[in-house]
Amino acid sequence: MIEIKNVNKTYGGSVKAVDDLNLTIAKGEIFGFLGPNGAGKTTTIKMLTGILNPDGGSIKVNGFDTKTNPIEVKKQIGFVPDSPNMFLRLKGIEYINFMADMYDVPQEVRKERVETLSKRFGMSEVLGDKIQSYSHGMRQKIVLIGVLVHQPPVWILDEPLTGLDPRSSFILKEMMREHADHNNTVFFSTHVLEVAEKICDRVAIINKGKILFCGTMDEMKDHFKNNESLEKIFLELTENEE
Ligand SMILES: Nc1ncnc2c1ncn2[C@@H]1O[C@H](COP(=O)(O)OP(=O)(O)OP(=O)(O)O)[C@@H](O)[C@H]1O
Ligand SMILES: [Mg+2]
Repeated sequence: MIEIKNVNKTYGGSVKAVDDLNLTIAKGEIFGFLGPNGAGKTTTIKMLTGILNPDGGSIKVNGFDTKTNPIEVKKQIGFVPDSPNMFLRLKGIEYINFMADMYDVPQEVRKERVETLSKRFGMSEVLGDKIQSYSHGMRQKIVLIGVLVHQPPVWILDEPLTGLDPRSSFILKEMMREHADHNNTVFFSTHVLEVAEKICDRVAIINKGKILFCGTMDEMKDHFKNNESLEKIFLELTENEE
């Protein structure tokens, strides 16, 4: 469960990237975070994961406060950032083992998980290669495997589907559903509205740091009374804000 209360973030004293944000995401939910470029999605995600401190407000993950209990929060979270370009000099398997070490994954279970995950994402053959040699999508997949190897209850994914091939994208969406159905939380940002429409239990649309709408797809369609596609609603909502 994620509880975001009255959270604010201003960069450099002027740009208010997140403006009094309130969101609660329950266990068992896939929650889609939508919004135009520069809306404040990544900033919110960075505060959730402890990369940035909020200027005000509070964030709790499975009951642990990011301010008072940051390590416990990190143990709850698996985070896939928007850019997978990291640890480029490590081999894929070295990176996964590093992640597994950080999260105390025992050797016995680690081997099986790495095998299953790399097979699912078609990465078994390249684990011995350096991340530097990977394509964008392969880099994303190695980051995903590094997160999933420690089986975190709360998944936080910043545009996880960008650059994945159709099969990997399908598998990841399937895994997100499975994970939520096991009473876990999945929070992800995306620009792909068709995906949000299909797999999210609820979505929020954010623009200029403020939530414009939050609810189920049915609630959104009721609210706008015209049974339009999410794309149309999104375009209308964010256009009025220009
Ligand atoms: N490090 C930073 N320093 C200054 N301003 C920043 C910084 N990071 C983000 N911003 C500003 O904060 C606002 C929100 O940015 P953020 O990255 O959270 O948007 P986003 O919703 O993730 O956008 P995108 O869809 O393009 O990824 C933007 O106005 C951006 O210019
Ligand atoms: Mg972003």
